[in-house]
Amino acid sequence: MSETVLRRGALNELGGLMRGIGCMGKAALISDVNVAGLFMSRAKEALRCEGFEVFTHAVPAGESSKSLSRYGELLGFLAESGLTRSDTVVALGGGVVGDLAGFAAATYLRGIRLVQVPTSLLACVDSSVGGKTGVDLEQGKNLAGAFWQPALTLIDPDLLRSLPAEIYRDGLAEIVKYAAIRDRALFDLLPYDLGEEEEVIRRCVDIKRELVSRDERDRGERQLLNFGHSFGHAFEKLSGYSLSHGRAVAAGMCAMARASYALGLCSAEDASSLIGMVHVLGLPTETPYTAEEVYGCVLSDKKRQGERMTLITFHGIGDCRLTCCSMDELRQALRLGLPV
Ligand SMILES: NC(=O)c1ccc[n+]([C@@H]2O[C@H](COP(=O)([O-])OP(=O)(O)OC[C@H]3O[C@@H](n4cnc5c(N)ncnc54)[C@H](O)[C@@H]3O)[C@@H](O)[C@H]2O)c1
Repeated sequence: MSETVLRRGALNELGGLMRGIGCMGKAALISDVNVAGLFMSRAKEALRCEGFEVFTHAVPAGESSKSLSRYGELLGFLAESGLTRSDTVVALGGGVVGDLAGFAAATYLRGIRLVQVPTSLLACVDSSVGGKTGVDLEQGKNLAGAFWQPALTLIDPDLLRSLPAEIYRDGLAEIVKYAAIRDRALFDLLPYDLGEEEEVIRRCVDIKRELVSRDERDRGERQLLNFGHSFGHAFEKLSGYSLSHGRAVAAGMCAMARASYALGLCSAEDASSLIGMVHVLGLPTETPYTAEEVYGCVLSDKKRQGERMTLITFHGIGDCRLTCCSMDELRQALRLGLPV
């Protein structure tokens, strides 16, 4: 799989690290307006001093930029800048920029090299690794996309210091997810202090890389990374997207922990440790949505396979499993985990 560099101050090494993996020529540096104001000139300088010809483009901040129209604009920008197959797209930003620029890199000239430089905690631990790229359609989130592995992911935790606390917290939900599915020792580090941040990010990236290396196309084990997400996506949708992804996933994990306990799959102690940690981290442990409302949303989930669906059930801290269930069993699980 692609290379991942995780080091404080690594942004200044961007050009050298890219040359090290064979990049040269032109680099299209894509960001959003918030992140561009903070880091674009440093990133540009780091590329220029290694001889890259740099072209920059910033989209508005926020999920609305993961659209077909922004994607079209971006392809036009790459063409106007004269990028060829030997050039590179660099995504400097959170998950929105990573997914959008990644999808443009995957499809421009049928695919050119991509470098991810994540600047949000969620992007560092999750979206910049694993090669899922895409945009939203009016009909739903992430409905158009491609698997396109970055040639390099450069994670510089110093870039997280300007992140608003609320957005940082969204990334914590994904960290709890990694601990819950695979890593009891990571769970024991939570809540971590800044001195442990690099270690925490490393553990999450290692888990993601391991799962992706065994199941790049998300047909089996990689689906463990969706723990809390089926219910979480429904909460996001029911809130009209006023509930952030991280908060929705946090509440989704708690609902699944409650359902798993009621089904006799995990101990009361493990379910309450998980829910307690979500609470301590300042994330929601429940939402007002009922089992029937969530069931209605899950029926249109893109991960549903006909009359069956794979749920990620919770069996203890560090132990989640794929459980294939019928739609009736799903309804039952929802009733156990959510208000009826
Ligand atoms: N591809 C994947 O595997 C994958 C996995 C999980 C989530 N995602 C996607 O990621 C997106 C969410 O990502 P996100 O939470 O990073 O959102 P985001 O990219 O919208 O970033 C959140 C906000 O933080 C700002 N920001 C980012 N870095 C900053 C910094 N260092 N300092 C100050 N402000 C900064 C952004 O401008 C934005 O306003 C969603 O679209 C989701 O679907 C993708």
